[in-house]
Amino acid sequence: MQIIERNILDYFPSDLELLEKIVAKCHLCDISYQRKHIVFGEGGNNARLIIIAEAPGAREDELGKPFVGRSGELLTKMIENAIGIKREDVYISNIIKCRPPNNRNPLNDEAMACLPYLEKQIEIIKPEIILCLGSISFHYLNNSTLSITKARGNIFDYKGIKLIPSFHPSYLLRNPSAKKKSYRDMLLIKSLLKDTIAQ
Ligand code: URA
Repeated sequence: MQIIERNILDYFPSDLELLEKIVAKCHLCDISYQRKHIVFGEGGNNARLIIIAEAPGAREDELGKPFVGRSGELLTKMIENAIGIKREDVYISNIIKCRPPNNRNPLNDEAMACLPYLEKQIEIIKPEIILCLGSISFHYLNNSTLSITKARGNIFDYKGIKLIPSFHPSYLLRNPSAKKKSYRDMLLIKSLLKDTIAQ
């Protein structure tokens, strides 16, 4: 008998809208029962850049969209003013799709249950660059416990895609002195995107 090895991602549809419908019915972890909306992700389906943060907050849970609050305003400025592309042309999502209670960090079980959805989103979109915002995003996509302070400034690899860690906008709002380094990370992304167009 021939045994065909299949990856869990092969069981998901290769279409973002269909995948979102599956995630909307997901109850693989307890926080799914408390959500108002899933926050699946939004942006260009052919985005060259995917931005991955941690988890939806209260406003995002209300509206079903990522980064709609104050940190969202800052993220939009980082994308549009520093990287120089429109927010709607990048794809923005999170490690987990439901809001953790009281905005606590996602638990490992929650992240591990949710991660295949994000992996499939990345497989469908095929970006050139993944920007990880904050240590939780970096930890799960790079399988690493390096702090964001140590990791940033370097380029990592996720299945052949350049993975760039940087500070979470909420951290930047609390620590404005880190904005200079964050700006440098955004300029690195800008130059990498320009290089691939020039090739
Ligand atoms: N913070 C996150 O990590 N993700 C969001 O979508 C919004 C705020």
